[in-house]
Amino acid sequence: VPDVDLLSRWTVRGVTLRNRIVMSPMCQYSAIDGMANDWHLVHLGSRAAGGVGLVMVEATAVTSDGRISPGDMGIWSDEHVEPLARIARFVESQGAVPSIQLAHAGRKASCDLPWRGGAPLTPEQGGWRPVWGPSPLAFDDGSPAPEPLDAAGIDAVRAAFVSAARRAIAAGFKIIEIHGAHGYLLHEFLSPLSNQRTDDYGGSIENRMRLLLQVAEALRATIPSNMPLFTRISATDWVEGGWSAADSVTLCRELKSRGVDLIDVSSGALTPKARIPVAKGYQVPFARQIRDEAGIATGAVGLIIEAKQANEIITGGDADLVFLGRELLREPYWALKAEQELGGQPTWPVQMGYAVQRRSR
Ligand code: FNR
Repeated sequence: VPDVDLLSRWTVRGVTLRNRIVMSPMCQYSAIDGMANDWHLVHLGSRAAGGVGLVMVEATAVTSDGRISPGDMGIWSDEHVEPLARIARFVESQGAVPSIQLAHAGRKASCDLPWRGGAPLTPEQGGWRPVWGPSPLAFDDGSPAPEPLDAAGIDAVRAAFVSAARRAIAAGFKIIEIHGAHGYLLHEFLSPLSNQRTDDYGGSIENRMRLLLQVAEALRATIPSNMPLFTRISATDWVEGGWSAADSVTLCRELKSRGVDLIDVSSGALTPKARIPVAKGYQVPFARQIRDEAGIATGAVGLIIEAKQANEIITGGDADLVFLGRELLREPYWALKAEQELGGQPTWPVQMGYAVQRRSR
């Protein structure tokens, strides 16, 4: 019998999750001026009621020009706090830990909503300029070349993450995740494919890691010591000459030494040229490698579908947490059903529990 499984509690600093199941951050592109609304409350609240241990609010922009689209959630002003606090309160009332992912979209900012094609938007179309990046290299044909951040711009980005973290705490979130993945600003600094700077923030891996490590350090200095800090990374760019899994191990050792508690291990999205061998659990080996080689807790994500599969990721020691995205969109009650399937006693919300356990009328 293994020590821990999918249904085991997990404690990190001052926070305990009721199980190892995390609702992965998923943009809803449904905010106006970055403000959370009823849709976000229901989207996140229903998965909290559905039994996950941790609910991660979608990529929430630390500056308005760091949004992927005009519909992104934001946390660049104090006005954003109360609607987020409403979500955090409800999630917590359902026994899940409310958490938020803080993000800057970098050169991938100013795009249309995905269900309208997601193409880059000009200011005339409702987008904005400049979009920011490490170097003036566009994401794709038809994407704007980003304006390279200068020293003052880099200082402002760090300060925006710190202000965002303060607001996230004020809103009642118990864990903060830095979005360092998917080709957004912090990942753009990491990868030699998007970062060709010649200052302290480009060239060597030490220099390319600098901004993310500074953000992590600044957040750790800002948030209470009993508050966990996560970071999502793309473990590889899936491109020859790009960011690699070995680079990720190096990075995660450094993140750990700056007080990051868990690496949420995703991959790709730095460039449309990547060829990704997508399959069930295809990113899990990276979570394993980082956990083993960098000695830090990891979360596995990507095509985790079945309870048994998720459980084996935990019992086999591949990762400490599993993050579910689309399967939780399909089935908000996935966690309760997984618990049932694995032989546990799911704790349904009290309003439902007495009824769903009764097969007769
Ligand atoms: C995502 N993903 C994502 N990732 C992230 O770090 N921040 C985000 O805001 C989003 N937004 C988002 C929206 C939607 C609609 C989807 C489907 C995905 C990626 C997501 O968290 C997850 O890593 C992937 O979807 C892979 O996991 P699944 O879906 O295979 O379980």
